[in-house]
Amino acid sequence: MKLKDKVALITGASKGIGKGIAERYAREGATVMLASRTEKLLDELSRKIQSDGGKADFCIMDVKKPDNIQAAVDRTVATFGKLDIMVNNAGVSMAHPSETLSAENWVNTMETDLFGVFYGCQSAGRQMMTQPQGGCIINISSMYGSVAAPMRTAYCTSKAGVDMMTRVLAVEWGDRNIRLNCIAPGYIKTELVQNLIDKGTLQVDALEKRTPQGRLGEVSDVLGSAVFLASDEASFITGTIITMDGGWSANGYL
Ligand SMILES: NC(=O)c1ccc[n+]([C@@H]2O[C@H](COP(=O)([O-])OP(=O)(O)OC[C@H]3O[C@@H](n4cnc5c(N)ncnc54)[C@H](OP(=O)(O)O)[C@@H]3O)[C@@H](O)[C@H]2O)c1
Repeated sequence: MKLKDKVALITGASKGIGKGIAERYAREGATVMLASRTEKLLDELSRKIQSDGGKADFCIMDVKKPDNIQAAVDRTVATFGKLDIMVNNAGVSMAHPSETLSAENWVNTMETDLFGVFYGCQSAGRQMMTQPQGGCIINISSMYGSVAAPMRTAYCTSKAGVDMMTRVLAVEWGDRNIRLNCIAPGYIKTELVQNLIDKGTLQVDALEKRTPQGRLGEVSDVLGSAVFLASDEASFITGTIITMDGGWSANGYL
């Protein structure tokens, strides 16, 4: 077990990548606090992890609200005694022509995908600074933090901000024994991507053709890196971005 005796808080744990990370962390021996806005899904997942022999609890929160994130960190520490791993995963997608993107959609994307990650880093960082063992923060960015895509000004800008925020905080908090890294996935088959496929915003054939490995990613493709970065095996790794996109970002052809 690579995360034995560690305590992790995962935002956006009700679905998709966050849910996959929570289940895998629990199997690797971590105690997990599941966080999102949907009580029913978190309750179900918490019970499933417990029935599989893991340790889990959940809290309802909105990453757009700094006091909600602080409360989630406080609850994790009150319930499980410490916070070793913070995964800032909660996010929304936004694909819309930039010339008509509403202020509301711009603000919602920024507040969720960028500001929410900062509030998560800040609250987790403050707690980790009080712990002799420090801690580790993993931010879920995107290949679209470094690759530009049309109609995604808000999304790409927010994820580029997450990449830089991660580097800045890794530099600022390195001597406090806090490691920060990003995971930057390409297209992963989750509800978020399925919704875009259903709306016709994404075409699976075109995505597969554009990806050197010829397929979309699965949630399972993200989990190895999420475990590795959180584990003691990554003890000298901070300020990095690990991309898992089937070669999309490397591909300058088609
Ligand atoms: N799937 C991909 O292809 C892909 C690629 C690159 C990066 N990513 C990134 O990976 C992360 C997870 O994406 P996903 O594909 O797993 O998405 P998803 O299936 O739509 O799940 C999103 C999660 O975020 C939570 N969430 C959204 N807004 C929230 C808020 N304001 N407060 C708290 N929780 C909130 C949702 O929970 P509730 O609705 O229960 O609140 C849900 O658990 C995102 O940051 C996304 O940008 C995904």
